Amino acid sequence: MHNNVDTLFANLWEDYVAITPSALEIHKLLADEESKDIVNDHVAFRTFALEKTRLNTLAAHFLALGYEDKGDYNFESKKLTAKHFEHPDTTKPKVFISELRVHELSDEAQAIISKLVEQMDANATTQDNYLYSGRHWDISHADYTRLLEESEYAAWMAAWGFRANHFTVSINHLSNSQTLLGVNDKLKDAGFTLNTSGGEIKGGEDVCLAQSSTMADTAEVAFTEAPQAIPSCFYEFAQRYPMANGELYQGFVAASADKIFESTNAK
Ligand code: NI
Repeated sequence: MHNNVDTLFANLWEDYVAITPSALEIHKLLADEESKDIVNDHVAFRTFALEKTRLNTLAAHFLALGYEDKGDYNFESKKLTAKHFEHPDTTKPKVFISELRVHELSDEAQAIISKLVEQMDANATTQDNYLYSGRHWDISHADYTRLLEESEYAAWMAAWGFRANHFTVSINHLSNSQTLLGVNDKLKDAGFTLNTSGGEIKGGEDVCLAQSSTMADTAEVAFTEAPQAIPSCFYEFAQRYPMANGELYQGFVAASADKIFESTNAK
């Protein structure tokens, strides 16, 4: 496991922008206007809730770096369970990890996913690079398409494996004049496509968290038949508001996250 938080996130970022070039462009666009570094609100991960790959196998890498378990979430219709983790140093990104409750899928989808995970060496989960190690299995485009019919999340995970699903710009850490609305307008003017499921801005001051995201880029994946371009990862933007006690809310809003998951849907 990594013993340095910054090195881990640097490696995750490098892997992420390799298949999400729009995130690198947007990062440069925002960084050019700021006289300081862009701070990440959170980084999100996906996995299958199976013995070998469950959420805890990913979380262990963050707990070892001083992160603490801070919240539980359930996404009923998407069949997901999630947790969020925070580091005592609040400038470090929060971590959001979800897992697909595979046993709630059809027998056919469960069989496809089980065959994939069977190919994976159980020791992979304790390696330094587990969180950005990608896929540990071969998959056919036919199986990918079958999973897509039932769960977009399952298909994404089957095709891309272990890596950051998205990084998230903290709007609060940008200069004072920046708002989520303003950033959204800037991105649209520059030609980027935002996720409009549930509106461009999910949540708001009333729930102490407003979020928006791009639609995922497309990148080529090796399937057993032939390589094919499919949705890869997206970039998210989060603005946090103070709670009644004056402190900025640090949790997540399930209703908003539910729509953000759809950023990897095919357009
Ligand atoms: Ni997110």
